Amino acid sequence: MGVRVAVIGATGLVGRTLVQVLQERRFPVRDLRLFASERSAGTRLRFHDEELPVEAFRPERLRGIELSLWSAGAALSRQYAWEVARRDCLVVDNSSAWRHDPRVPLVVPEVNPEAVTRHEGVLSNPNCATIQLVLVLAPVARRWGIRRVVVATYQSISGAGQKGIEQLQAELAGQTPAQRVAPWGIAFTTAFHQLDADGWSEEERKIVAETRRILGKPDLALTATCVRLPTLGGHAEAVWVETASPIELEELRHCLRQQPGIVVLDDPAAQRYPHPALVSGRDEVFVGRLRRDESVPAGFSCWIVADNLRKGAATNAVQIAELLCGCPPTPAQQ
Ligand SMILES: NC(=O)c1ccc[n+]([C@@H]2O[C@H](COP(=O)([O-])OP(=O)(O)OC[C@H]3O[C@@H](n4cnc5c(N)ncnc54)[C@H](OP(=O)(O)O)[C@@H]3O)[C@@H](O)[C@H]2O)c1
Repeated sequence: MGVRVAVIGATGLVGRTLVQVLQERRFPVRDLRLFASERSAGTRLRFHDEELPVEAFRPERLRGIELSLWSAGAALSRQYAWEVARRDCLVVDNSSAWRHDPRVPLVVPEVNPEAVTRHEGVLSNPNCATIQLVLVLAPVARRWGIRRVVVATYQSISGAGQKGIEQLQAELAGQTPAQRVAPWGIAFTTAFHQLDADGWSEEERKIVAETRRILGKPDLALTATCVRLPTLGGHAEAVWVETASPIELEELRHCLRQQPGIVVLDDPAAQRYPHPALVSGRDEVFVGRLRRDESVPAGFSCWIVADNLRKGAATNAVQIAELLCGCPPTPAQQ
């Protein structure tokens, strides 16, 4: 019994977390195969009490695999995801390759689990910054309606993968990084993702487009500014939400507490609020700093923090896999 599973990109930050989350959540794995690039072939990774070998990825090597969890970047997913899916192997993709393809559901299990049923073999995990945002926006949209959202992100450099961490560590050690994901440096400063000719980063566009798609609100007024920080893990977001009807903070807190996957940590008198170090290793999305926004007729502002490698990537992907495989529904909490 159980599912034959593959992790593609197993040696990366998200891939290693996927292996860990499959183990922690006791996903019904019958057989686990691990893939990465040629560079990593022969590396071993621990899963339960076994040391499993990492193989160089080739699509034909997935023969017999029923479920594949991908975190090897958009280029590989674009090239091979459908070829693998056509061979009856489900694909849950962490990259941005298929997030706007109408054949591919974009799923946050606590928000739109029903989308899972409409797949054609490939399913997409949203961007990490989107996942934590929609978890908070969804119950607000249902209860009060949303007129406009403004988001400013404070994202860990781990969002750029292993290369991001290595750049930070090299700069902190006074060395020249082998590769730069932040061209002007990241230690003791901030960086933007690559900007396009219109002045937007792809990350900012992803938040806008993906949030609209997941919430089923193609016209939602939403804007974002995304910033990378020299933190090792955890993305934070300052968010301003203008609601369609008046909102009471106590009712808002109550409403958010009812939302599976959210922890409300909002105790200003005790200086208690979420921050990246606090949420590290946690699967829930934390929200605090809930305040009335006096600049609009009805609205509030808040601070949303989550572990980008877990709920922002691996945990959400494994939750999608659980839905696909008919595992009992579980929120992000273990
Ligand atoms: N980091 C985050 O917070 C986050 C959150 C959500 C989604 N994502 C997405 O998840 C994906 C992985 O991100 P990451 O942060 O884990 O990156 P990473 O640390 O750089 O890891 C990338 C992984 O992909 C593998 N890989 C690269 N090229 C490959 C190829 N041609 N064939 C097979 N394997 C290949 C690498 O193998 P080698 O070790 O052999 O090079 C490594 O295992 C990206 O699409 C990213 O956008 C990341």
